[in-house]
Parts: sequence; C-alpha cells; structure tokens
Amino acid sequence: MDAMWPRWLLTILALWTFPQVAALPELAMVGLGTAGIKKAMLICNWEGGGRFASDRFTPISLAFVLDAFERQRAIKAVKACQEVSTMVEAIQMGYRTLDTALIYQNHAMVRQAMEESHVPREEIFLTSKVSFFPSSLELPKEHQSTFGMTESPLPPELTFHPFNVKGKEIEGIELSLQELGVEYLDLCLIHAPSTSALELWASFLPHLYGYWPKMPSWTEPLVLGATQALTAQEVEARKREAYQQRKRSWLNMEEAKRRGFCRHIGVSNYPVQFMQEIEEYQTEPIYNEQQELHPLAQFRDVQEYTKKAKIFLTGFGTGVVADTPAAEQIARRIGRSPGQVLLRWAVQHQVHVTPKSNQLARLRENLEVLDFELSDADMATLDALDASKVFYWNTSILVPKADRKLRDDL
Ligand SMILES: NC(=O)c1ccc[n+]([C@@H]2O[C@H](COP(=O)([O-])OP(=O)(O)OC[C@H]3O[C@@H](n4cnc5c(N)ncnc54)[C@H](OP(=O)(O)O)[C@@H]3O)[C@@H](O)[C@H]2O)c1
Repeated sequence: MDAMWPRWLLTILALWTFPQVAALPELAMVGLGTAGIKKAMLICNWEGGGRFASDRFTPISLAFVLDAFERQRAIKAVKACQEVSTMVEAIQMGYRTLDTALIYQNHAMVRQAMEESHVPREEIFLTSKVSFFPSSLELPKEHQSTFGMTESPLPPELTFHPFNVKGKEIEGIELSLQELGVEYLDLCLIHAPSTSALELWASFLPHLYGYWPKMPSWTEPLVLGATQALTAQEVEARKREAYQQRKRSWLNMEEAKRRGFCRHIGVSNYPVQFMQEIEEYQTEPIYNEQQELHPLAQFRDVQEYTKKAKIFLTGFGTGVVADTPAAEQIARRIGRSPGQVLLRWAVQHQVHVTPKSNQLARLRENLEVLDFELSDADMATLDALDASKVFYWNTSILVPKADRKLRDDL
C-alpha cells in the first residue's frame, strides 16, 4: 500500500476526509420517537368495531367480539401520534435523531417537520423501518377454524402496504425516501422478524394488552396461550422457510446500503439467535438493534450480545412503565421525573433511547437525561425488577426450539 500511495499523499487524504466523516451525525443517545396512531384511524377503528368478530364461535374469535365492546376505552387509552408542530418544536429543542417507520404512516409529517425546523438534512440522523408484514396475511389453513378467520386479525390501524413486506425491502426503502423527501436514510431497520401471518400476529399480540390496551385483560392467558402454542408448531414446521426469508431480507438491506439508500442498516425486535444467524452470511455490519427495553423487560441476553458484537442498542417503551413505584420513589428522592429515571437507567446501561411524547414538557425532560447519574444502589433497585414483561412484541416465540437453547447458553 505504502509503495503505491506515498505517505504524504495518504496524510493529505486523511486530513481531507476526516472533517467530512466527522461532520456526519451519529445515532444520539436520546432520539425522538414519532410513532402513534392518527385520530382519523382511531375513529375508523371504532366505527369498524366488530370487523374482527366472526360468526364462528372459537375462544380466539370470542376475544375479538369482546374487543369490539372495548373500543371506546381503547380510543381513550391509545396515545395519539405527534403533530407536525410538536415535532418541529422537538427538533428546535435539540433532538437530532428522528425515528419513524413505513407502518407509522407519518413520513410526510416527519418530512414537513424537518422542512419547517430549518435544520439542514445533514445534521439530522434519520431512521426508518421497513419489512413489517410477511408476504401473505393468510393464516395457515389448519388453524383458520380455530381463529374463525382466514387472514391474520391485525388491527385496522396497521395499514397493509405491498412494499412494507418481507422480500420488498428495497422497494420499501425507496418508497420511504420518496415520502420523506430525502436522498438517503441514516439508518434503516427491518421492523420485525416475523415471516408469516401467524408469527406476526402472535408476536405482536402484547401490543393489544399492553401498549394499546384493547383486549379485555381476562382473555390474555387464553389468547396468548392458544396463539403461542399454535405458533410454536408453525415455527418448527416452517423453520427452513423462515430462515431463508430472514436471510433474503437482510441481503436486500445490504443491497439498499450498497445503492446508497441508507448509510447504516439494522434490525428491530430481533432475538439474539436471529442476529447470530446474520453473522453467517452478512457482508455489512448490523449497526443497530431496536427493541422494547425497560426495567420490567430488560433483555439482558440482547444487551450482552449487542455489546459484544458492537451493535448499538436502542430501547423504547420506558414511558409505558413510568408509573413503576420504584422509579417514582427514586424520582421523588433525586428531584427528577419517573420518566427521566427510567430513560437514565437505560442510558447508564449504554442503551440509546427514542422516547415519544406529545407533551412539550415531557419532550424536554426526556432530552435532559445525560446530565445526571443514578447511584449504583438505584441502578440495582431497577435492575431487580426484570420480569420479562413485554408490552409490545414477543418475538422470542419465533425462535425454533433447538435454537432456543443458544439463548440459555449466553
Ligand atoms: N421498533 C419497534 O417495533 C418500535 C415499537 C414501538 C416504538 N418504537 C419507537 O420508539 C418510540 C417510542 O416508543 P413509544 O412511544 O411506544 O414509547 P415511549 O417513548 O416509552 O412512550 C410511551 C408513552 O409514554 C408517554 N411518555 C413519554 N415520555 C414520558 C415521560 N417522561 N413520563 C411519562 N410518560 C411519558 C408518552 O405519552 P404522551 O405522548 O402522552 O406524553 C408515550 O405515548 C416510538 O415513537 C417509535 O419511534 C419502535
């Protein structure tokens, strides 16, 4: 190398490229989450109540019939998405990492917010996610009578888009670029690892009891138990096919990166085993894993693996457990809010965070978690709360049995 490139030339090149590289924004410890449900969609949801209700009486369809009666409660419980003006204020307040996704249907709003904030594109680290749906929403024939329906009973808010599916990662990213009005994403993630309708529904189910409490809580053991049992069978039967699909998705992400559509690529809601799988065929690094992470669901295996593999880990969901008594006590004692204590707990574990709020005061307090420290004792108190209690995704059920052992060995 030195023979071909004189040292003085290399030095000039290094000096020239250094400021360019240094100017690129990196994933911030605190970014802005933008997910939410548009009010218009909520109203559709209410009016469409009973859409899931089936004329077949099965335990799972019964839960959905009951769900129809609970929708008014759901409307109150669901956290609405951010208005453009709120995002503009957040950017002006100092947020530079923005997190969105094709499924959030808010790319146009994020675009408008970036434009109205007048912060140059190069100063923003923009993340989006694609590859949310499996290529078909049809439930396995043998389970259709159990569900009382032929297609995955996804909430209507999750609008299906033919480019937001497995295998269409490149098209999904191109669509995202178009909607966001940008030439590149700083980071693009595979949104979820599920490769079939049943896998998607089963792993997504905690949303309906936790994040959007939509289903009557007494149905939880029934619906979760039945669905997980069916999913376990399907995961075993489709092991090879699912592996091939995950591999295709990752290789498509690599291709998108090669084409300059994204600076970095990564995954979301991936259990350790699926990230390890990528090691077998990757030619590009996994830059980031994004998933729910708070004291009640700490995913220590994921924390350990990502640290070892030098993958940035982003956590979300601390806001949903902000009423945890231990966090409230610590907050009172140190003069911070429970939300800040939980975000700080994540940051102290070297986890990046991407909180979302519609309230300016909370947006501000969420940003102010880098200027104080929790004591070892307070960290230990929060660490002791781990209960594997997820409110969003349970993707560990997608790992075939033989591979699950790997997780225990970590
Ligand atoms: N990859 C994935 O599958 C995935 C899944 C979910 C989320 N995400 C990303 O992560 C972001 C955050 O997720 P999230 O909004 O579900 O969780 P979150 O940031 O923990 O917020 C959950 C709720 O907590 C409230 N909140 C926010 N800050 C708070 C504070 N300081 N104190 C008390 N409550 C607070 C917010 O309600 P108010 O608006 O009323 O303040 C918010 O709706 C999303 O916007 C999205 O970008 C990714």
